[in-house]
Amino acid sequence: MTLVKIAYASNTGNTEGISEHLEEAFEALEMEVVREIADDIDEDFFEDADIAVVATFTDGDGELPTDFEEFYEDIEEVDLSGKVFGVVGSGDSELYADYFCEAANMFEQMLVKTGAKKGAETLKIENDADDDDIEAIKAFAKQLVEATN
Ligand SMILES: Cc1cc2nc3c(=O)[nH]c(=O)nc-3n(C[C@H](O)[C@H](O)[C@H](O)COP(=O)(O)O)c2cc1C
Repeated sequence: MTLVKIAYASNTGNTEGISEHLEEAFEALEMEVVREIADDIDEDFFEDADIAVVATFTDGDGELPTDFEEFYEDIEEVDLSGKVFGVVGSGDSELYADYFCEAANMFEQMLVKTGAKKGAETLKIENDADDDDIEAIKAFAKQLVEATN
């Protein structure tokens, strides 16, 4: 069975909600899913995954959430070749136009360095997920699963 692991960080709940939609979308595709908050994981989290998903909001002026900083730095040393990855960002393009979902961009670049294959374009969501975003999350999950074949 294909194992999907989702790591997320969330301050005010938007990205947590997104991570729940991701979990449901992968479960609907009959994947086994493990979803963990950034605080509870270390850099070996994705080592047994077939699909690695990061869901992150952006803090400061284009900064990673504090909870993800250590994981982000440590994952650079991890070999995730043979796995598929995808990143979902939550941000605010009106208040932070110059840095919209910058943390998601940073994770995408970092995960490329691990040797994992990008299975779908990074999905950027305006704050919390609306109905259209939920459909986009389903399509994103489907693409990642197809990329493992
Ligand atoms: C202090 C602060 C800084 C932020 N900086 C950015 C930013 O640089 N880029 C961006 O796209 N969104 C930024 N945002 C918006 C949040 O990323 C966005 O509201 C997100 O949905 C919060 O996710 P959460 O509810 O999971 O914590 C910022 C929000 C706050 C409160």
